[in-house]
Amino acid sequence: MVGDALTRPKDLLDFSAYGRQEIEALLALAERLKRERYRGEDLKGKVLALLFEKPSLRTRTTLEVAMLHLGGHAVYLDQKQVGIGEREPVRDIAKNLERFVEGIAARVYRHETVEELARHARIPVINALSDWAHPLQALADLLTLKEAFGGWEGLEVAWVGDGNNVLNSLLEVAPLVGLRMRVATPKGYEPDPSLLQKAGAFFTYDPKEAASGAHALYTDVWTSMGQEEEREKRLRDFNGFQVNGELLRLLRPKGIFLHCLPAHYGEETTEEAVHGPRSRVFDQAENRLHTAKAVLLCLLS
Ligand code: CP
Ligand code: NVA
Repeated sequence: MVGDALTRPKDLLDFSAYGRQEIEALLALAERLKRERYRGEDLKGKVLALLFEKPSLRTRTTLEVAMLHLGGHAVYLDQKQVGIGEREPVRDIAKNLERFVEGIAARVYRHETVEELARHARIPVINALSDWAHPLQALADLLTLKEAFGGWEGLEVAWVGDGNNVLNSLLEVAPLVGLRMRVATPKGYEPDPSLLQKAGAFFTYDPKEAASGAHALYTDVWTSMGQEEEREKRLRDFNGFQVNGELLRLLRPKGIFLHCLPAHYGEETTEEAVHGPRSRVFDQAENRLHTAKAVLLCLLS
């Protein structure tokens, strides 16, 4: 199932070890898996540990279902049981899990935790979201954009909202496939300037300027998991950054709306946007499954 052309980095922590070829091969594999509604025995007998410090609907379910479709199995380990860095150091967790399972998908607060897991485990480690990156989400987003527009080269994707983990992964992957990013955040919530520069992204503090004429408008929550104490301040700071029908009208005629979900309705977006005609939000969610299958096949087989 995995083509010869696909080189295989050991882990997927962010896209720093990935080039255009790996991304294109992963996405081609995901498209094929989706088309064929593929189920097989490629990962028969293999087990993925899901080591999660934070809640999840899409990431946990798609990784579990993906393992099932590929003939393998997933074991869910939550923070209450494992106590990452509390009951047991990260290094020791890595050195145990590698003896039991063939891969680890970890959802963590600090990106350093997935890096440390990957350093100490001889098995693949997949970042299932950290404070720095959400690469599994970006892969599903790429597939969704390709389905909507036929390719990525020259597409303009506007990001309106927080300069967060989901944006970072898009900024990392954009230059590899020719996506052009247009980013608007409030002051104090800008993404890493070096990421913006590497992506050749356009940056503004004006949501309308970012959205005007773009192919897609993407947003995410203003308060990410772990930032709950900042919610009141963030609600004030993000005033004017809501992605609603009015902002969506500035897109080009066939422009689409993207959101990684979960949505905080009435904050960064509205019912009208998520459930309206421009929304591809639930295609994005579905594509989490097909792209997760491609990643697991690539790293674990
Ligand atoms: N988009 C996403 O990662 O969703 P979950 O937090 O539900 O996994
Ligand atoms: N930025 C959000 C994404 C959730 C999928 C968070 O980190 O909570």
